[in-house]
Amino acid sequence: MLIVVSLLALICTGSISTDILSPNQSLHDGQTLVSAGGTFALGFFSPGGSKNRYVGIWYNKLQVQTVVWVANRRSPLSDTNGTLELSGNGTLTINSMSFLPMPSLMNLTNPLAQLLDDGNLVVRESNSSEFVWQSFDYPTDTLLQGMKLGWDLRIGLNRNLTSWRTKDDPSPGSYILSMDLQGPGPQLTLWFGSAKKWVSGPLFDVSGFTNTPELSTLNGFTNWYNISRDEVYYMFGTGNPKSLSRWTANQFGKVERLLWNESISMWNLVLNLPKSQCDEYSPCGPYGLCDLNSSPVCSCLQGFRPKSQQEWDQRDASSGCVRVTALDCKNRIDGFMNVTHASLPDTALATFHDTISLDQCRQKCLTNCSCTGYASADIYGSGCVIWVSELVGVGTVSYGGRDVYVRLASADLAFIAHHQLEKDIRGDDELELPQLQWSTVMAATRNFAAENILGKGGFGPVYKGKLEGGKEIAVKRLSRNSTQGVDEFKNEVILIAKLQHRNLVRLLGYCIQGEERMLIYEYMPNGSLDAFLFDKEKGVHLDWQARWRIIVGIARGLIYVSSPRLKIQDHPQGSQGQ
Ligand SMILES: *[C@@H]1O[C@H](CO)[C@@H](O)[C@H](O)[C@H]1NC(C)=O
Ligand SMILES: *[C@@H]1O[C@H](CO)[C@@H](O)[C@H](O)[C@H]1NC(C)=O
Ligand SMILES: *[C@@H]1O[C@H](CO)[C@@H](O)[C@H](O)[C@H]1NC(C)=O
Ligand SMILES: *[C@@H]1O[C@H](CO)[C@@H](O)[C@H](O)[C@H]1NC(C)=O
Ligand SMILES: *[C@@H]1O[C@H](CO)[C@@H](O)[C@H](O)[C@H]1NC(C)=O
Ligand SMILES: *[C@@H]1O[C@H](CO)[C@@H](O)[C@H](O)[C@H]1NC(C)=O
Ligand SMILES: *[C@@H]1O[C@H](CO)[C@@H](O)[C@H](O)[C@H]1NC(C)=O
Ligand SMILES: *[C@@H]1O[C@H](CO)[C@@H](O)[C@H](O)[C@H]1NC(C)=O
Ligand SMILES: *[C@@H]1O[C@H](CO)[C@@H](O)[C@H](O)[C@H]1NC(C)=O
Ligand SMILES: *[C@@H]1O[C@H](CO)[C@@H](O)[C@H](O)[C@H]1NC(C)=O
Ligand SMILES: *[C@@H]1O[C@H](CO)[C@@H](O)[C@H](O)[C@H]1NC(C)=O
Ligand SMILES: *[C@@H]1O[C@H](CO)[C@@H](O)[C@H](O)[C@H]1NC(C)=O
Repeated sequence: MLIVVSLLALICTGSISTDILSPNQSLHDGQTLVSAGGTFALGFFSPGGSKNRYVGIWYNKLQVQTVVWVANRRSPLSDTNGTLELSGNGTLTINSMSFLPMPSLMNLTNPLAQLLDDGNLVVRESNSSEFVWQSFDYPTDTLLQGMKLGWDLRIGLNRNLTSWRTKDDPSPGSYILSMDLQGPGPQLTLWFGSAKKWVSGPLFDVSGFTNTPELSTLNGFTNWYNISRDEVYYMFGTGNPKSLSRWTANQFGKVERLLWNESISMWNLVLNLPKSQCDEYSPCGPYGLCDLNSSPVCSCLQGFRPKSQQEWDQRDASSGCVRVTALDCKNRIDGFMNVTHASLPDTALATFHDTISLDQCRQKCLTNCSCTGYASADIYGSGCVIWVSELVGVGTVSYGGRDVYVRLASADLAFIAHHQLEKDIRGDDELELPQLQWSTVMAATRNFAAENILGKGGFGPVYKGKLEGGKEIAVKRLSRNSTQGVDEFKNEVILIAKLQHRNLVRLLGYCIQGEERMLIYEYMPNGSLDAFLFDKEKGVHLDWQARWRIIVGIARGLIYVSSPRLKIQDHPQGSQGQ
């Protein structure tokens, strides 16, 4: 009795004993083709809680049904009496209809369909090994070992992964993972409709996608990249034919790389993209900088400020940032800020120059008014990428990363250099600098007598004075309408005090009285140009070239005496020889 039942079961629902489907042979719902090694099965199934029937391919031996390909994702059957057939000319049909993603103009004479052990369903002439059609060319949401993700440019074939709508519904969902050919290097792009959700960074050579170095370092995986005239694709393998591994684009907007774990009979998630908030596309808008170690993660690149402070205050950085100072462009006095350990901004609108050096790249950028930045492409030591659009997706990365040179107006660069110095110095112990009593200063300058005025600047007058002991001082009395707060002022005082360099006058102390802010210097009979440098009213007395030279001079001096860690970029272009 038992034997009869199981025989019946075999007849009704069993596999049709081979991996091959021939013309005039129907694969009925309930039957399966099983690949020669038993790894994959092809048949009818209903996903999750759905009652709809689909023709698909899944792992034959796994308890958890894991579907890797669906033939009729847009055209489900509502009953369980469907059949899959191969017509005499090589066309696969479901219930005599061409639901499959295949041309209806098949013209084979003696075709067969075969499910291979790598999960590929192929159609070929029975006496030939060449595939006329293969399911690997029409992926659904899954990439298997040996499948190409990308283009066959000769025939315009674009192989991409499209997420399921839900786990019960394999019809095309919102997310597509494709190989985007725009820009200097192809890059994997996860689309949500026409919006980008994630980009891998460009592929310049076989070292992999620029912003996704994790791919190349996952143990037990190999990656193949092809960037040729004929084909552009990504492919992966595991080296071990027994290990089951796949990529999917899921309905939640994630690209997952999964590996079957035999011991717990579950899929292990090996990589999940985008990796983090900063890895998403344009996490902080144009010219924003994303850093996971900061809170909030978004800030503006130096030299930029929020486009909408109000939105940023509400933690919405999507509108990004705008320049503090417009680029000069014409006089070639703009410069570059070196953003280190950075992810490359989206290269879709960038240009690629394969033979020029980084320095030539810089020159090239300076001569083009629309150029916003550049970076090394690092292809065998040369080549560069130049951006002529807003920079989107600059992030600080913990692993890998490049130096990205962001074009800035010289005024902003000088400002950054100043603050960089300040930051660097702040690392040391707080400096104690005497705060002089108002009465002391009054006495020294004889109530700020007019005849003691040494000179006047935009910041206010400088008085000569004499302390009780006879020491001569110069008192810089900052103008009342300078709105500097007490802390800000003290910080500046500390900064100046620490710059004990020949370019600077020695600061002896400071004085705060009500709204008054005063800096007390050693008296130098001939004055010092540099005292003007850190004044709030900069811009009046010195042109930018002069100021830049001074700042760099101070910086160099500082490096020399105290801080070998600090590096200051050279003169901005245009200042040389002027
Ligand atoms: C399939 O069936 C059709 C008609 O039923 C017949 O003409 C044809 O020869 C058959 N083909 C094969 C390969 O058996
Ligand atoms: C499937 O079976 C139902 C009833 O059992 C029938 O109405 C329907 O026509 C069948 N469909 C096909 C394609 O045979
Ligand atoms: C191939 O066979 C299918 C199914 O029988 C048919 O619909 C199609 O027209 C045929 N194509 C050619 C080119 O004969
Ligand atoms: C099938 O048709 C294609 C063009 O559609 C042609 O290139 C090819 O040679 C044909 N094959 C056979 C076996 O007739
Ligand atoms: C396959 O068979 C067809 C005829 O059925 C023949 O024309 C063709 O040359 C054969 N191809 C090979 C590679 O043997
Ligand atoms: C995905 O591939 C399909 C089929 O080749 C194509 O029509 C579609 O445009 C592609 N989508 C993207 C985003 O590449
Ligand atoms: C890339 O694809 C082309 C065209 O199919 C092929 O000739 C070449 O060998 C492939 N290169 C690599 C590295 O696989
Ligand atoms: C399988 O999963 C177990 C439990 O999570 C883990 O300890 C083991 O390392 C995994 N094996 C592989 C090959 O990932
Ligand atoms: C940018 O910074 C990196 C890291 O400090 C350094 O290696 C590189 O030389 C810098 N580039 C320039 C042009 O100074
Ligand atoms: C600047 O670069 C862009 C992009 O390469 C190019 O289209 C444009 O012609 C260039 N402008 C000049 C003045 O070279
Ligand atoms: C400070 O006030 C003076 C006189 O009212 C004025 O000329 C100067 O522009 C002001 N400076 C600033 C920075 O507001
Ligand atoms: C001040 O300048 C005069 C002439 O320019 C010079 O002789 C003198 O040495 C300078 N004094 C100091 C302290 O630098």
